[in-house]
Amino acid sequence: MDGNGRWATAKGLSRSAGHAAGAESVRACMKAAVKRDVKYLSLYTFSQENWNRPEKEVAAIMDLMSYNIRKELPEFHENEVGFKVIGDMDRLTPRLRNEIEAAEAETAQYKDHTLILMFSYSGKWDIEQAAQRYARDFAAAGGAGQRPLESYLATAGIPDPDLLIRTGGEQRISNYMLWQCAYTEFYFTDKLWPDFREDDFNAALDSFAARDRRYGKVN
Ligand code: IPE
Ligand code: MG
Repeated sequence: MDGNGRWATAKGLSRSAGHAAGAESVRACMKAAVKRDVKYLSLYTFSQENWNRPEKEVAAIMDLMSYNIRKELPEFHENEVGFKVIGDMDRLTPRLRNEIEAAEAETAQYKDHTLILMFSYSGKWDIEQAAQRYARDFAAAGGAGQRPLESYLATAGIPDPDLLIRTGGEQRISNYMLWQCAYTEFYFTDKLWPDFREDDFNAALDSFAARDRRYGKVN
């Protein structure tokens, strides 16, 4: 979800106002995803690198996270969407962690559609934490019954993304799901995230539907 800051600056607003506006696009895309029966919609909300932004902007994003979880809970129920957050929760305040866990628990019964916020997440962090836990289990059991590395990723149990959409004009992966994107299709658009709505989401899905996925094989 890139382009919140530029969207706000162009309108003479603070970057934080851009993040607030971006929340509207989250709701629009969540609803569009349910309509199109997309089972998992994961959104790169805040990266490990984003912790290095100015303190004021980080604080605003944390507040928005709190505020929007509370505000969107009725929407999750109405749309029967399960809510989930994936990332390094150790870096969050206990209060925000509690709010996240409560919202996850409250929507856990909705299995058909899941909205995942990738928060305090990065692909390298994920692989590293998986490798550490893998090594610990390996050392404890001498490799007996060792589960694959993949099952230690923070996204374990969730299918790899079929499609990755990046808004805001940049064409890079920015430390997103590095392992999980091995065969993901990419879609780039110049639209800034706060301007990205249902029609744009559908256009990305339509582009995806026309792709020829071969997974390294010959058809
Ligand atoms: C995306 O918008 C939101 C976050 C990364 C938190 P940006 O804040 O990156 O917006 P630009 O790229 O500066 O316009
Ligand atoms: Mg950006």
